[in-house]
Amino acid sequence: MFNNKTFFEKNTMLIWAEKYRPQTFDEMAGQKHILPRLKGLTQSKAMPHLLFAGPAGVGKTTSALIIAKMLYGKQWKNNFLELNASDERGIDVVRVKVKDFARTRPLGNHDFKIIMLDEADSLTRDAQQALRRTMEKYSRTCRFILSCNYSSKILDPIQSRCAIFRFKPLEKEELIQDLKRISQSEKIIISEDALNAIHEITGGDGRRSVNLLQTSSTIDKTVDLNAVYEAANYAQPKQLTNVLLLCRDGDFLKARNELMKIMLEQGLPAVDILKQLSQRVFDIKLEENKKMELLKLIGETEFRLIEGSDEFIQLQALLASITLMMK
Ligand SMILES: Nc1ncnc2c1ncn2[C@@H]1O[C@H](COP(=O)(O)OP(=O)(O)OP(=O)(O)O)[C@@H](O)[C@H]1O
Ligand SMILES: [Mg+2]
Repeated sequence: MFNNKTFFEKNTMLIWAEKYRPQTFDEMAGQKHILPRLKGLTQSKAMPHLLFAGPAGVGKTTSALIIAKMLYGKQWKNNFLELNASDERGIDVVRVKVKDFARTRPLGNHDFKIIMLDEADSLTRDAQQALRRTMEKYSRTCRFILSCNYSSKILDPIQSRCAIFRFKPLEKEELIQDLKRISQSEKIIISEDALNAIHEITGGDGRRSVNLLQTSSTIDKTVDLNAVYEAANYAQPKQLTNVLLLCRDGDFLKARNELMKIMLEQGLPAVDILKQLSQRVFDIKLEENKKMELLKLIGETEFRLIEGSDEFIQLQALLASITLMMK
């Protein structure tokens, strides 16, 4: 499945995630806990620096763009600069770009320009210190919007200079409503279980969800559950539940064959399988402490895989351990 952010952002003509990017706060799905405050700050003359924290694809960049459009109208592009802290080669490049941008006055009758710095948590401590000084130096003419996954990785002195907004993964109902709006506009017919599956697969990541809706509907405008699983390269949950059931019932060889089949047919990497397996633990009837054991075994296998051990051997060993544990 396509979920490469840069690929999509560069090919904006084709991409629904761009086509349907909300243009106003009212159009945004979810984030109702922060939008009123965000709107208020934008409308006030005294917008502070902002820190947006939260997972990928839930509206951080979208919100920054909305703020810029609310403040500057048609001229927003002249007064808004987006930089990526991890793309650019280090804080020096950021500093030079900020300096160039901040040197000229905001276009129109505005007090400040906006600089959005994506992935600010990828900066080292030293780089963040430098960023802090830069923020201070240009605070008369610029407001910074920093975006990060984890606010805990941002230095306290930076946090204390910002109003912090915590973005959340989109709730199932919020996401589904948004996907329905897009489906309608693209003349797609999509089933409820397919919509639910999109939410489960993406975990409330808006960008991945819209991308998945788009890839699921490239072949057929009628989208069912299978189309979603196929586009997402996701094993059917019931197939994996079945593997666990076979282990529970002591049929190791059959469980092993089933799992190999899923891996080979779908070409799924073992870590993806493990992630899905851990979700399926809760589908099967089993004592609480056995479920805990199971999750522990899956976690240990995942750790070994990330360290670089052989996928087939590790998965086989996992099934063997599960089957033995269930006895
Ligand atoms: N709250 C939302 N409501 C509606 N659509 C959303 C929302 N959040 C994300 N999307 C969809 O995902 C796309 C990407 O969102 P956005 O660029 O705001 O993500 P982000 O939070 O900045 O993620 P990243 O951390 O990866 O930069 C949007 O163009 C839109 O299609
Ligand atoms: Mg972003």
